[in-house]
Amino acid sequence: MGVALVFLVALAAMIPTFQANIGEYDEYWQNKAKEAKKAAAETFNPNPEEVINHLNKHVSLSLTGTNGTRRNLGNDAGCLATNPIDRCWRCQPDWMQNRKKLADCALGFGHKAIGGKLGEFYVVTDNSDDSLTDPKPGTLRHAAIQPGPLWIIFGSSMNIKLQQELLMTSDKTIDARGFNVHIAHGSSITIQYVQNIIIHGLHIHDIVSGAGGMIIDSVGHVGVRTRSDGDGISIFGASNIWIDHVSLSNCADGIIDAIEGSTGITISNSHFTRHNEVMLFGASDAYSGDAILQITVAFNHFGQGLVQRMPRVRWGFVHVVNNDYTHWLMYAIGGSTHPTIISQGNRFIAPPNAFAKECSVSRLALNCSELIDCILVLVKVTKRDYAEQSEWMNWVWRSEGDVMLNGAFFVESGSPLDAAKLSSTQDMLPSKPGSLVPRLTRFTGPLDCKPNQPC
Ligand SMILES: *[C@@H]1O[C@H](CO)[C@@H](O)[C@H](O)[C@H]1NC(C)=O
Ligand SMILES: *[C@@H]1O[C@H](CO)[C@@H](O)[C@H](O)[C@H]1NC(C)=O
Repeated sequence: MGVALVFLVALAAMIPTFQANIGEYDEYWQNKAKEAKKAAAETFNPNPEEVINHLNKHVSLSLTGTNGTRRNLGNDAGCLATNPIDRCWRCQPDWMQNRKKLADCALGFGHKAIGGKLGEFYVVTDNSDDSLTDPKPGTLRHAAIQPGPLWIIFGSSMNIKLQQELLMTSDKTIDARGFNVHIAHGSSITIQYVQNIIIHGLHIHDIVSGAGGMIIDSVGHVGVRTRSDGDGISIFGASNIWIDHVSLSNCADGIIDAIEGSTGITISNSHFTRHNEVMLFGASDAYSGDAILQITVAFNHFGQGLVQRMPRVRWGFVHVVNNDYTHWLMYAIGGSTHPTIISQGNRFIAPPNAFAKECSVSRLALNCSELIDCILVLVKVTKRDYAEQSEWMNWVWRSEGDVMLNGAFFVESGSPLDAAKLSSTQDMLPSKPGSLVPRLTRFTGPLDCKPNQPC
């Protein structure tokens, strides 16, 4: 395994990377890319099953109340946290005095993300974004470029319209708890060649592509950026990233893209709506550097108006666990270039009226076999691209404990999960079934947290 990884990393180094949005790929960016690659290699876990088992065990414990509840005895009256990430902090009435507790709560591949835990607080008080090269103190852009760890919070509810993409430096938390903070109708967040970021509680929607130009990316460095695609959150060559309780909808490009050797990522408790291409993990079939990609997608709600890519994966390893898929129009989970996809305890609800609407016989003049094909395509959870069955039958795509409704079906491939590595033996507890998903995902998107009360 180690040898294989070294080989992959060496191979990846020979393939020129996408220079996404970097106008001049100079020494500054080359160094950042090099450091990012090193950090990603350190984050990569050669035993991804460990991470899966750890998460599943905590889901079991949080549901049976053997841990977490006991800790909060006496002060969690009214606390409705229903999954282990939320159980870790939401029941504490002093969540506001103790915001950094959140940094201990990530599970899954992004569990090492502590964001700005070791830094000061920075309060964003100004929603403007007037200067891209010399941002005003008090703005989100000014906070995001500061050196060293920083825990960024907000002084009030606000709508932030970013003129161009917001570039972040390492070791930051953006924590919107307590207020309604929208990043909307402009550009959004780019996490490029940095490490250790937590994004919590933002509303991100109606994001448009930006023209680029001179943009500050850290104190003391302004560089030329080319056009940005208009992603909701763009993760590029970055590691140890946790996105939690964010709502995302209607972005010009992907809602969340994680590409170019990104790894160590958890996307949890988030709510996705109104969007075509939701999550892209790995952008190129030719870029083997994405073999390092390890991502957990847990406790999210994929809701109204979504079409495809929840997620679409290349090369890497993705654990999709206890999510609620209530809407999709083309497929839920897709991929190419032999990714590993472990789907456990999700609920997949296929489009309810495939027959009446999308595959309407009268409208499309379908004959019988076309009608069946049309419906099968709609209700199938999975989609594999650019490979014959003889090839993809070896990709490890496994479904365990998923609940399938309205005819939804998951086409499995590859060898079954290794019972010795992933099971209820010894210290491990099995994944929880999809029937518990409505409970586990009851509070997706930003929470309405009030001071001095459990959230
Ligand atoms: C149980 O709670 C303790 C105290 O917070 C924590 O250190 C420990 O990791 C938890 N164990 C499990 C299995 O959740
Ligand atoms: C249905 O229509 C398609 C495309 O026109 C055709 O190729 C196919 O043979 C037809 N099948 C039947 C059963 O008529």
